[in-house]
Amino acid sequence: MEIRLAKSYGFCFGVKRAIKIAENASNAVTIGPLIHNNAEISRLKDNFNVTTLHDIHEAKGAKKAIIRTHGIPKNDLEQLRADKAEVIDATCPYVTKPQEICEKMSQEGYEIVIFGDANHPEVKGVASYAIHGAVVVQSVEELSHVKLKGQKVSVVSQTTRKINEFLEITRYLESRYKEVRIFNTICNATFENQDAAKDLAKEADVVVIIGGKNSSNTKQLHSICKEYCEDSFLVEDEHDLDEKWFEGKHLCGVTAGASTPDWIIEKIVGKISKIKV
Ligand code: F3S
Repeated sequence: MEIRLAKSYGFCFGVKRAIKIAENASNAVTIGPLIHNNAEISRLKDNFNVTTLHDIHEAKGAKKAIIRTHGIPKNDLEQLRADKAEVIDATCPYVTKPQEICEKMSQEGYEIVIFGDANHPEVKGVASYAIHGAVVVQSVEELSHVKLKGQKVSVVSQTTRKINEFLEITRYLESRYKEVRIFNTICNATFENQDAAKDLAKEADVVVIIGGKNSSNTKQLHSICKEYCEDSFLVEDEHDLDEKWFEGKHLCGVTAGASTPDWIIEKIVGKISKIKV
């Protein structure tokens, strides 16, 4: 039986990059979790002594601080520098971009609108770069209750938002304000995994989806695969595999949710490759 991995699966570029940075840094702290994956955070702690702090107040006296993928507020960054910590930036470049845009556009006199969740760390960080603050909204309905002061508006999006919803926001702004600068800062990584899973499921006669059973993006991958390949199974670890799934099969597709580390995927692929069909 041939085993084929999806063209895009598991951790996105920004998360993989951050992990590499943390492994190379070692003996460092991060303000908030480096990435959203507990197993990986524990592995970094055990093997590289990378410790997760809850907030900036705990970082006093830290020698080395890694900035997580979602970024941190500008004040926190300045605080670390003032405390003379060595700062290692693992902010995803797709998150740095809207931070830079907010800073530049607000310096040029634009009011800043961010489409996203005001409580999300990424959005808190991005908003902190707007020199006079930012309006954060999740929908046109929310935006309709906001009255901006001037006529110059600049808008960015949280990286994980859907493009059609962002367009609703931009259309609304364009219809009400004289000058609107739109920056599409959405990252396609999540959607790339979904498209690749679909392509794989169309060809495979059994598909294994690896990820947490509570992870919403893993469940989404499972349901996409099931649409195209009835024999699609979600597993958390190698113990969930059932040899019967593979009987008489020729092509086994494998994909993984955005929060599944490579070492879990490798373990499962290794076990599948030993199954006699
Ligand atoms: Fe990942 Fe960066 Fe996109 S962390 S989901 S590549 S914004």
